[in-house]
Amino acid sequence: MKPNIKSRTVFLGDNIDFLRGINSACVDLIYADPPFNKKKQFTAPIGSEAEGASFSDYFGAEDIKDEWVEELRQENHELHSLLIGVNAMGNSYNYCYLVYMAIRLIECHRVLKSTGSFYLHCDPTMSHYLKLLLDCIFGGKQFQNEFIWYYGGGGAGKNRWGWKHDVLLFFTKSANWTFNMDAVRVPHKWSQGQLRADGSQRSLEKGKIADDVFVRHGVMPWSKERTGYPTQKPLALLERIISASSNPGDFVLDPFCGCVTTCIAAERLERNWVGIDVAREAWKQIEQRLEKDVPSDLLRGEANFSRTPPQRGKQDARAKKYVYVISNPAYPGIYKVGVATNAEARLASYQTADPKRRYQLEFKILTAEYKTLEPHIHRKFDGDHEWVPGKLADIIAAMKTYQAPA
Ligand SMILES: C[S@@+](CC[C@H](N)C(=O)[O-])C[C@H]1O[C@@H](n2cnc3c(N)ncnc32)[C@H](O)[C@@H]1O
Repeated sequence: MKPNIKSRTVFLGDNIDFLRGINSACVDLIYADPPFNKKKQFTAPIGSEAEGASFSDYFGAEDIKDEWVEELRQENHELHSLLIGVNAMGNSYNYCYLVYMAIRLIECHRVLKSTGSFYLHCDPTMSHYLKLLLDCIFGGKQFQNEFIWYYGGGGAGKNRWGWKHDVLLFFTKSANWTFNMDAVRVPHKWSQGQLRADGSQRSLEKGKIADDVFVRHGVMPWSKERTGYPTQKPLALLERIISASSNPGDFVLDPFCGCVTTCIAAERLERNWVGIDVAREAWKQIEQRLEKDVPSDLLRGEANFSRTPPQRGKQDARAKKYVYVISNPAYPGIYKVGVATNAEARLASYQTADPKRRYQLEFKILTAEYKTLEPHIHRKFDGDHEWVPGKLADIIAAMKTYQAPA
């Protein structure tokens, strides 16, 4: 699909509204650096460029909507089951954070091109849970790396090892993706300024293959790029990711852009870019940083600012899914009625829970009205969340004759 977003735009607002408006399969690279669930408020220091900027990293029931959970239940069975499992562990804050993330990660996956790459920046607070979410959304096979950013400072303690690194989970949408290894080779220690025995200089192309640990200080108080925006990431980290995982002219999206580090790095590397942030300070930063951190010969015009979500093309907005009916002779007179993009894959996921593999796909219907059809059948036959009691023929007839409300 063609992008329905204009490059060099910073959207102000909750990213879920903007992500849902972006056309499917139109973005080449997403770098997402969300709150990490640290259970605290981050605030820019007084007197810094970003003074006044602050964001909450504390998640509770007020941050999630029932309709999101319902949507996950209907459309992403595996993910929903995983979240129910997390909730059963008894930490409702983790559950709320993960629901909040899941609903956004699904949209990130949708807007990526089939050749696209996704980096989720997090830390060990939640990285192991987020990896499971991404395995459900992208498929475990699409996991490429756990990329470690070792920043060195902070995190020291007397009773445990110092916390010195962040985790970036790198997934691709398919088995075919961009990776420009030559753009990110690391010089051999001995290569800089050293001569071979024959007197010739060792060149960078003899540089070694970049590995999954990036050693670099965070943005220091004396650093030129420092804005004071809380949790600002170094440009060098973003330049590394963008150089490796995209090409000039590609579209880069950062749905949690903060003080727009990704946008600046993308601008410097001549990529198209869009950033989204709920904090108004992100807007203030972009103009200043475009002037300060982008060489003037590269600056390609003004940035755009918008509070209005893009509108997806009609065809894209009305994507179809299957509403299915699955039976199991062990449970006579009740049927699973649910929604799936792939009804056979859903059947296979049920089979794994039944050693005798007796689940059977009785009926499926591909429809754009799946969001209303499935709850309609549950209400009509008085079903609870998954199982619908009734005669199979009646349930199928009701599905075939369903008319969506105008
Ligand atoms: C870890 S910071 C990102 C820092 C950024 N990478 C940088 O270098 O400045 C997380 C950002 O996510 C933003 N944020 C949190 N929830 C959001 C949401 N639902 N929609 C958009 N932005 C959100 C916060 O305002 C904050 O700026």
